[in-house]
Amino acid sequence: MKILGIETSCDETSAAVVENGTKVLSNIIASQIKIHRKTHGVVPEVAAREHILKIIPVIKKALRDASIKLDNIDAIAVTTEPGLISSLLVGINTANAISLMLNKPLIEINHIEAHIYANFLERKAKDFQFPILILTVSGGHNDLILMKNFEDFKIIGETIDDAAGEAFDKVAKILSLPYPGGPEISKIALKGDPQKYKFPRPMLNSKNFDFSFSGLKTSVLYTSYKQKKLTSKIKADIAASFQEAVCDTLTEKLIMAIKKYKPKEVHLAGGVSANLRLREMAAQKLSKLEYKPILRYPNNLIYCTDNAAMVAAAAYFKKYINSL
Ligand code: KG4
Ligand code: ZN
Repeated sequence: MKILGIETSCDETSAAVVENGTKVLSNIIASQIKIHRKTHGVVPEVAAREHILKIIPVIKKALRDASIKLDNIDAIAVTTEPGLISSLLVGINTANAISLMLNKPLIEINHIEAHIYANFLERKAKDFQFPILILTVSGGHNDLILMKNFEDFKIIGETIDDAAGEAFDKVAKILSLPYPGGPEISKIALKGDPQKYKFPRPMLNSKNFDFSFSGLKTSVLYTSYKQKKLTSKIKADIAASFQEAVCDTLTEKLIMAIKKYKPKEVHLAGGVSANLRLREMAAQKLSKLEYKPILRYPNNLIYCTDNAAMVAAAAYFKKYINSL
């Protein structure tokens, strides 16, 4: 079963061909990062226009790299929500047209669900053990999800304001670092002192699994205002201390949820799961638990951020699970 995946929910135009939900035959991503750096964030109108220019060449390249003709694709999968509506529409309309032309099924995929399946790529699906607890952390979403089987997902916690990735992007802006902020913050954090500034760990005392990052972002803003000059050293210390606070908050909630739900596996997914400190801290905290689930995150960093391979994978597990 070969599925053509299409992803245009934000600022990456991507198409991929994935076989049986795990084998990536191609995964083409046209990133708009350089364009959105000029405005320090995504301007929806600009993103949509860029998707229109890129979508057909990206699909053609995905088919070429997978050595497959469009006729031999079994189904088309596309991200339909959540995301920027003008961007989503480019992918949705293209996928609809291909499905109609080929008379092949069109499978609609939720973007967060797609991120979850990034952890199934290039692995043996039969090796995964349910229940799985998933922390999906991106620019647009921040959820804790309990997955009892391929069809049974439950959101047990979510952000009540900013997502972790959004906070990384906003703090990068405060520190005059380029968009997207996550990779830039983690780069300069390597030279900083994570204990220098005591930033808040929001909502750790609440009994639920929800997150909030807007107060932390404001705290970083005030700390930066107080500095006479934002030198490289101060920026590195702020970045390291901020990253530490985000990772600490995310992993503390993760540990709380592990204790309650006793999952067999714990997955990190989404753009922020590329963060090495988050991976390291999650591994350290899990190793101290009496009950130790398996920790997984995408080995290939390309599957953390937006890509169409995860969309095709999600479609396979959603629709064709019985063929496993
Ligand atoms: O999943 P994604 O590509 O898009 C959404 O669905 O939102 O995630 C993008 C987010 C951005 O906010 C970016 O700053 C963040 O992921 N990100 C990171 C890292 N790489 C990307 N955050 C922290 N550390 C990273 N290494
Ligand atoms: Zn995403």
